[in-house]
Amino acid sequence: MGRPEFGERYGEQVAAAYNRMAEEYDRFDAGTAFFINDYRVTRAALEALRSRWEGRVVLDVGAGTGLQTGQFAPRARRVLALDLAGDLLRKAREKVAARGCQNVTFLQGDATTLPLDDASVDFVCCYGDVIGLIPDYAAAIAEMARVCRPGGIVTVQYDSKWHVGLLWRPDELAGAVRARGVGDKRIWTYTYLRRPERVDFVYKTYTGREMTRLLSAAGLRVIRRLGLHMLSSIVPEPYQTVYKDGQPFYETFKRVIVTLGRLDFALQALPGASRVGYAAILVAEKPLSV
Ligand SMILES: C[S@@+](CC[C@H](N)C(=O)[O-])C[C@H]1O[C@@H](n2cnc3c(N)ncnc32)[C@H](O)[C@@H]1O
Repeated sequence: MGRPEFGERYGEQVAAAYNRMAEEYDRFDAGTAFFINDYRVTRAALEALRSRWEGRVVLDVGAGTGLQTGQFAPRARRVLALDLAGDLLRKAREKVAARGCQNVTFLQGDATTLPLDDASVDFVCCYGDVIGLIPDYAAAIAEMARVCRPGGIVTVQYDSKWHVGLLWRPDELAGAVRARGVGDKRIWTYTYLRRPERVDFVYKTYTGREMTRLLSAAGLRVIRRLGLHMLSSIVPEPYQTVYKDGQPFYETFKRVIVTLGRLDFALQALPGASRVGYAAILVAEKPLSV
């Protein structure tokens, strides 16, 4: 497909593109420096919040092949794994079944219209930059806040507008400068491993202030901020997400990026880190009384 339109039909295009990725999604993520670094932070962030989801009801928005669902399932009371892409959910279902978890419900649907009751969930997780793929992101955040119970948590990972890698991307830098005060659109090109095909995804980026405003407008209060890919963004993004398993030159290169990612991991919670990395995580709480 050519460059998709970030509008009403974008969800269909996203689902189709991800469905075609179903058989290779996990291999790509596990073999790519960017995602090795990414999952180090997201896994640790969820472990740090374990007391808020262990033994409770968790909603995984944009669950994909179940990378976060698989972390929750053995210790949550129930996990609701929602995604537009049915083939990715099928992979997630196979994985949790292989681990013997029977507490996961898979929901094929749209984050902007969650098929759940108000205040029915203790912990909402939206990781893997799902929010960047949703044109009506404010509606998705409002939905996550609606289904979260007072005292519960909503945590969102998003692509940041500003990061040092923009120095390699004059087009994106110019767009970012033009979009004053809010995020811009980022194009991410994925080359399929198993078919002669590439796809451009449009991701909306956010400033930390913008995402905080969106969460606040939905009645949530930000309690924690983490940055991802701060130092590692020095390496141009296409080199971070290239997949060439087993090639010696590439493996050396990958080790350098993963080492930068370990340094990032040590810096993730520093004040300001969430503003300068390629991506960020915000953790927000729904106050007991609004
Ligand atoms: C980059 S993947 C992340 C999957 C998983 N959370 C992870 O970290 O591996 C983005 C996911 O968002 C899903 N997605 C995009 N738009 C969505 C929407 N409007 N509602 C539900 N899921 C959506 C896609 O189908 C895809 O599975």
